[in-house]
Amino acid sequence: MNLFNDLLNWLNDLFLPPAKSTLAHQTDALFWFVHLSSFVLTIGLIAVIVYFIIKYRRQSEDEVTPLITHNNQLEVTWSVIPLILVIVVFGWGYKVFVNQQVVPDDAYEVNVTAQKWLWRFEYENGATSTGQLHVPEDRPVKLVMSSNDVIHSFFVPAFRIKQDVVPGRYTEMWFNAPDPGEAQVFCTEYCGTGHSDMMATVVVHEQGEFEDWLAENSGGGSKPDDLSPAEWGEQLTQQNACRTCHSIDGSKMTGPSWKGIFGHEATLSDGSTVTVDENYIRESILEPEAKIVEGYQAGLMPTYQGQLNDKQINAIIEYIKTLK
Ligand code: CUA
Repeated sequence: MNLFNDLLNWLNDLFLPPAKSTLAHQTDALFWFVHLSSFVLTIGLIAVIVYFIIKYRRQSEDEVTPLITHNNQLEVTWSVIPLILVIVVFGWGYKVFVNQQVVPDDAYEVNVTAQKWLWRFEYENGATSTGQLHVPEDRPVKLVMSSNDVIHSFFVPAFRIKQDVVPGRYTEMWFNAPDPGEAQVFCTEYCGTGHSDMMATVVVHEQGEFEDWLAENSGGGSKPDDLSPAEWGEQLTQQNACRTCHSIDGSKMTGPSWKGIFGHEATLSDGSTVTVDENYIRESILEPEAKIVEGYQAGLMPTYQGQLNDKQINAIIEYIKTLK
């Protein structure tokens, strides 16, 4: 058994992302069992074919192949061995599947909301975070997920878990990360322009540190003491995935660049002009469809109504002012 584990660890390091959840080890063990037994069978089969080709090749002109109708022993053997393998894989797979599906009763619950193109997390005490899922180490965490717009999918390769996130209904998933650290989250259902940037990080806190983080963030959206308003604004634009569509270096992306826009005039799609000031930016964040800049497509930007509070919007405006 130890040898099997050593072999597993070696193969994991070589081919798979590091396994960072309790379920990951179960999934990997089954994964490698299926692959290694298939590998051994394939090699064995090819070896037998090659041996037969050479041994039973036609060696003289008048050679006649004898008539063989069947061989009971052989046929039973090659039916029973695969049958046993299939039963083992089914039973093993069923056990791992049930472990994945049945959420432990004491799981800590986090609400997950997906929207183009970001992940938001809401905790039991009202704290929220965007782009970072904070969880305690060595405790089951249940994710209750839904989408504000299209179908997304929450995928954490290091945890070996993946689940669609669908508008209009809730889907669930759970994991237990035994060690502190970080794991990458991807959206794995194509959801539009920003799909490949729709990422987040799972931050696994040490025992006790998670409670500290929760307490610090229970206010839900007030400025961290060590940041200036503009610095906080910059952080918010990253957490809320604004920069997926808005560059800060003047290059044209899905939305207008922010470089040097504050205080300047923008031409709208109906030909009128507007001065980019606090009111215009605020309106664009809350009602993105109200004014569309010439040369850009309507209907792409989601509203941040109910997602960003006034203080956060002010901080983002302060940040945009600094982009000269
Ligand atoms: Cu969200 Cu792809």
